[in-house]
Amino acid sequence: MKTFYITTAIDYVNGSPHLGHAYEKVLTDVIARFRRLMGDRVHFLTGVDEHGQKVQQTARKRGIPPQQFCDEISEEFRAVCRKLDISNDDFIRTTEERHKKVVRQLLQQLFDKGEIYKAEYKGFYSTRQEQFLQEKDRNPDGSWPELFGEVTEITESNYFFKLRSYQDWLVEFLKKNENFVFPRYRQKQVLEFLAEPLNDLCISRPKDRLEWGIELPFDSGFVTYVWFDALVNYYSAVIDKPGVWPADFHVIGKDILVPPHAVYWPIMLKAAGLEPPGTLLAHGWWSINGAKMSKSTGNFVDPVAFADQYGVDALRYFLIREMSVGQDSDFSLQQFLSRYNSELANNLGNLVNRALNMTNRFAAGLVPAAETAEEPELALRALWEKTRDEVIALNEGFQFHIALERTFAFITATNAYIEARAPWKLGKSADAKDQALLKTTLATIAEALRLGVSLLPAVMPGTTKKIHDVLGYAAGPVWRDELVWGDRLTGRKVAATAILFPRPEAAKTS
Ligand code: MSP
Repeated sequence: MKTFYITTAIDYVNGSPHLGHAYEKVLTDVIARFRRLMGDRVHFLTGVDEHGQKVQQTARKRGIPPQQFCDEISEEFRAVCRKLDISNDDFIRTTEERHKKVVRQLLQQLFDKGEIYKAEYKGFYSTRQEQFLQEKDRNPDGSWPELFGEVTEITESNYFFKLRSYQDWLVEFLKKNENFVFPRYRQKQVLEFLAEPLNDLCISRPKDRLEWGIELPFDSGFVTYVWFDALVNYYSAVIDKPGVWPADFHVIGKDILVPPHAVYWPIMLKAAGLEPPGTLLAHGWWSINGAKMSKSTGNFVDPVAFADQYGVDALRYFLIREMSVGQDSDFSLQQFLSRYNSELANNLGNLVNRALNMTNRFAAGLVPAAETAEEPELALRALWEKTRDEVIALNEGFQFHIALERTFAFITATNAYIEARAPWKLGKSADAKDQALLKTTLATIAEALRLGVSLLPAVMPGTTKKIHDVLGYAAGPVWRDELVWGDRLTGRKVAATAILFPRPEAAKTS
C-alpha cells in the first residue's frame, strides 16, 4: 500500500507564527488524521523555509547570525505544532544538511542535462529593498514607489531554469488531470496563467547580494534562489523513505499556488524525471476583524496564546467549522465566542453533563442495557446512520465545515431526544414499563454521545478522548467498526463530572 503523503507549505521564519500558519497546519492535520482513521498509512510533513533575503536582513538587524535567528524562530513554529496537537511525522528545516544535499544534487542533475543555463539579466534594481523590480511595481505615472528608494537599471549574470520548454507539457498534464488543483475552479487560474508564454526561471542570486542560501554546486559565486530551494523540501524529506513519493497532497495557501506550486514545481519534477504530486489543495486566507492580519498594527492572533486561553480543541474546531476550504474567512473573538458558547459549551458540553448526571442519578453511574426501541430511539438511530455516511463523504470531499455542522446537528438531536423522553420524569415512576424506558433512554443517550463524538477525533482529538474517557470507554483500532450503533457501553462506569468547555473569561464579562 502506498503511503498517503501529505504536506503543508513550509513557513518563512522571518516572522513569528500567526493564525494563517496555524490554520494550514490544523487543516492538514485534520486530513491526515481522517486518512489514518480510514485505514491509510500516512506520512505528514511540515516545516520551515529558512533561506533568503528577508531572513538575512532580519538577522542582521538583530545583530545575530542568520542560523541562530532561524534556530529561534523555527522553535516557535515547532511549538505551534506541539500546542495545536498537530500529528506531523516529520518537521523539515531548509538549513538541514539532508535538505541542502538534495537541492545540490537536483541542481547538478538539471545543470548536467542542460536544463539550467547562465545568462545576463537586465532589470531595474532597488538597492534599498535589494531586489529586482518588475513593470507592475511602478506607480501608475511610471515612477517607482518611495519604498524602493533609488532604482537603477543594472545587468547581472544569473542561472536560469528552462521553464518555457515544459509549458506545453504542463498544459497537457493539467487537461488530463482535472483534479490536480482543489478547489477545481483554481485549476482554471493556472491554465489562464499558462495562456501567456512562460519566462525561464531565474534560480540564482550572486553571493555579493545574498549569502544566506544554498550554494550552487556548479558555481560557488551564487546561491540558489528561494523557490528552487523551498519546493524541494517535499522531496528531500522523504528521499530515503521507500513508498512515500509522490506526495498525495500539498496543502498550501491560495497565494502560492500560481506560479510556484502549480507551475514551477511540476516542471521541476518533470525535468528531474520525478513523478508529480497528486493534488494541490489551495485554501483561502484569514482576515482578522475584517482586516489583513499584521503584527505591527496589532491585528494579530498568536495561536499558542489563544489556545492557552480558550483551549486547543476549541481553536481547532473554530478554524475548521468557520472556513469552507478554499474560501476566505474572517476571524473575530465575537464569532469565536458565539460558536464556543452555543455549539461547544451549550450543545456538546451540555450533552456530556446530562449523560453523566443522569447515569449517576438513575443508574448508580453504570450505563444500563437498552430494553426496548420505540419510535424516538429508532428515529435517532436512523439519523445517526445518515449523519455518519454523510460526514464520511463530506470529509472525503474536504467539506469539513459541513461535516461538523451535521455532526453537531446529531448532538442537538440527541439533546432533543432527552427532552422528549424526560428521564427525570421516568425516574420518579415505579411502573415497570417506565423503568424499562428509563434504562433504554440512558443507554440511548450514552451510545448516541459515544457515536457523535466518534466523528470528531480528526478535528478535536483531545476532546474525543476526554469524552470517551468519562464514558468509561476506549475506542478500538478500527474506526469504521466504532461507528456502528450497538451496546459497547453497557455496564461501563461513567465519571461523576467532566469539565470540557469552561466559560471563557471574556464571555463572563460580556
Ligand atoms: N515559504 C513560503 C512557502 C514555501 S512552500 C515550499 C511561504 N511562507 S509563508 O510563511 O509566507 O506562508 C506559509 C503558508 O501560510 C502559505 O501557504 C500561506 O498561504 C499561509 N498563510 C499566510 N498567511 C495566511 C493567512 N492570512 N490566512 C491563511 N493562510 C495564510 O509562502
